[in-house]
Amino acid sequence: MLKMTPQEIVSKLNLYIIGQKKAKRAIAIALRNRWRIFNLKKKSKKEIRPKNILMIGPTGVGKTEIARRLAKISNSPFIKVEATKFTEVGYVGKEIDSIIHDLADSTFNIIKKKNNNIKIKKISEKKIINILIKKIIKKKKIKNIKFIYKILIQKLHNGELNNKKIKINFKFKKIDFEIINYTNIKKTTNEIQKMFKNFYNIKNKEIKIKNAIKIITKEETLKLFKKNYKKKIINDIEQNGIVFIDEIDKICRSQNYNNNFEISREGVQRDLLSLVEGCTVLTKYGNINTDNILFIASGAFHSYKPSDLIPELQGRFPIQIKLKPLNIKDFKKILIEPKFSLIEQYKKLILTEGLNIEFTKCGIYNIAKSAFILNKTYENTGARRLHTILENLLEEISYNANKITNTKIIIDSKYVKKKIKIKTIKEDLNKFIL
Ligand SMILES: Nc1ncnc2c1ncn2[C@@H]1O[C@H](COP(=O)(O)OP(=O)(O)OP(=O)(O)O)[C@@H](O)[C@H]1O
Ligand SMILES: [Mg+2]
Repeated sequence: MLKMTPQEIVSKLNLYIIGQKKAKRAIAIALRNRWRIFNLKKKSKKEIRPKNILMIGPTGVGKTEIARRLAKISNSPFIKVEATKFTEVGYVGKEIDSIIHDLADSTFNIIKKKNNNIKIKKISEKKIINILIKKIIKKKKIKNIKFIYKILIQKLHNGELNNKKIKINFKFKKIDFEIINYTNIKKTTNEIQKMFKNFYNIKNKEIKIKNAIKIITKEETLKLFKKNYKKKIINDIEQNGIVFIDEIDKICRSQNYNNNFEISREGVQRDLLSLVEGCTVLTKYGNINTDNILFIASGAFHSYKPSDLIPELQGRFPIQIKLKPLNIKDFKKILIEPKFSLIEQYKKLILTEGLNIEFTKCGIYNIAKSAFILNKTYENTGARRLHTILENLLEEISYNANKITNTKIIIDSKYVKKKIKIKTIKEDLNKFIL
């Protein structure tokens, strides 16, 4: 269970997210509250539930970015879904429950990666070598088994034993294949499934060592999964899970609705409600209870208001935060301040070609200003505009970087103005700032 204090969470978020102080604080509190609930006595624990968050704000101001960073910082099982992708139970399409199934799968993959396959690899190799040694012992006496073991391991690593045959026993159930599929050890599952389509229990089957090692590795992964992973996945999701539901405003329904489309949106809200209220979803890892999962919903709410959601669902998102539109100052900061900021990313990429690009202060200011004006003039895409501007700005350099002989290029305001031609740039900026 995550022990980070709200201040620690906010200061970590500050490394990546510019502004949006209120949202960062609310999220930090929500996360800490979960830890607080976890530390309560059993009786009161049942009574208090995490308070879910609704983030409201225009596009490209950091709603998704905050949630994504939060998940990384806190190392929590995290899933981002789009509300519009779901249909209510009984209709064709994705059902709300799939959120928990997908969350469980991605958590499993992360846990698996962390637990590393090195241990499994070692165990599998040991098994193979032991079979080989037994075979040798049958034929002649060996004095120094350790020495033979070392040589065989080396040969195995060099691939010299790949095509030698050994006899192994193995036993897979049909359901194991399903789990193995999720362990996704390269493409071998398909091969193995094909090989053993009709029989999952093999005794004394003679196969090539390169195939035997694949099978034994899978067997060991499965053992580890059964022993450790299931519990870990369920505990981690139940205690630390975060579900981010984007575009929740798109499943709102108008007050005077009279078409099926809108009725169905309400159906999705009801399904979502049962998940948010707390229920148990049966996944292939076991039952997962959603009581303590933190739900963060987000939407622009251009055409609808949060009060257009069904009242029960509104009630389950008691913390409503409005995110602020970003101004030129924010854009300037977004360009340079976050860890791996946009500018840093481009600089690093181009440097691989031996070319330094340097941005002057005025250059950066002009990029920020252009983004702001373009957003006001055309569609407002928030900070996403910075991505498109930089792409245009550096297109030529990017295309030719490998053959540019200079070692340094300076991006100043002149360069920016030349590349980003904005008719309205000459207009009075105050008009937009007002
Ligand atoms: N406050 C911010 N600080 C740092 N970067 C930001 C901020 N807001 C947006 N960005 C940048 O803009 C990109 C888009 O932001 P994000 O995905 O969070 O938008 P959003 O608010 O979720 O918009 P939408 O409503 O369209 O989903 C991010 O990947 C990030 O690079
Ligand atoms: Mg988003």
